[in-house]
Amino acid sequence: MTNFWLEPWDERGPILERRANTPEMQAHLGGVESAESIAARHKRILDGVRDGTTGFFLIMVDDDPDPIGSVGFWDSEWLGQSVYEMGWKVLPGFQGRGIAVGAVLAAIGLAAAGGRHRFAHAYPKVTNEPSNAVCRKAGFALLGEVDFEYPKGNPIRCHDWQFDLKAVGGPP
Ligand SMILES: CC(C)(COP(=O)(O)OP(=O)(O)OC[C@H]1O[C@@H](n2cnc3c(N)ncnc32)[C@H](O)[C@@H]1OP(=O)(O)O)[C@@H](O)C(=O)NCCC(=O)NCCS
Repeated sequence: MTNFWLEPWDERGPILERRANTPEMQAHLGGVESAESIAARHKRILDGVRDGTTGFFLIMVDDDPDPIGSVGFWDSEWLGQSVYEMGWKVLPGFQGRGIAVGAVLAAIGLAAAGGRHRFAHAYPKVTNEPSNAVCRKAGFALLGEVDFEYPKGNPIRCHDWQFDLKAVGGPP
């Protein structure tokens, strides 16, 4: 497995997002995004980190000076419960090396240590095989299929995957 590490999200985030803004990378995420949408998410992440409701990280590797992926968690409501929602991406040149699974597990450890929520959820589209594989390999439990909106206003059919943070030191 390629050596990787996480660094806090910062101004390199939008640079990564622009590199990742291709039809291939965005195939399961509503298609190529506008510059405004990338800028708005960057601001949401920075605001969320500042007020403690978000943890978002850049994935770094030895053989590239720029971030090659991201992983994050943020406060969300699911079926009347406060949970973390998670998301991730790894650039095509670095995929298939276990980086996403490793980065997701590292982020799960940080989410659990934060102690805010018992459960983290992820909602990959049912057809997003790599992302569903990441959930399965990281140890999420598949709860079933659900209707979801991503981006907002775009209805999609997703898997609801849940990780019990209590199992890795999170709150009861
Ligand atoms: C999802 C994503 C982050 C995976 O990154 P990655 O670093 O390649 O993932 P990993 O190498 O850690 O593991 C992926 C697993 O999925 C499997 N996989 C990859 N493509 C697959 C496919 N088409 N069908 C089935 N499994 C697949 C891999 O084989 C691997 O499992 P293995 O170790 O048993 O072989 C990457 O594909 C991506 O960024 N996609 C675009 C953005 C996205 O959709 N993000 C998720 C939003 S919910």
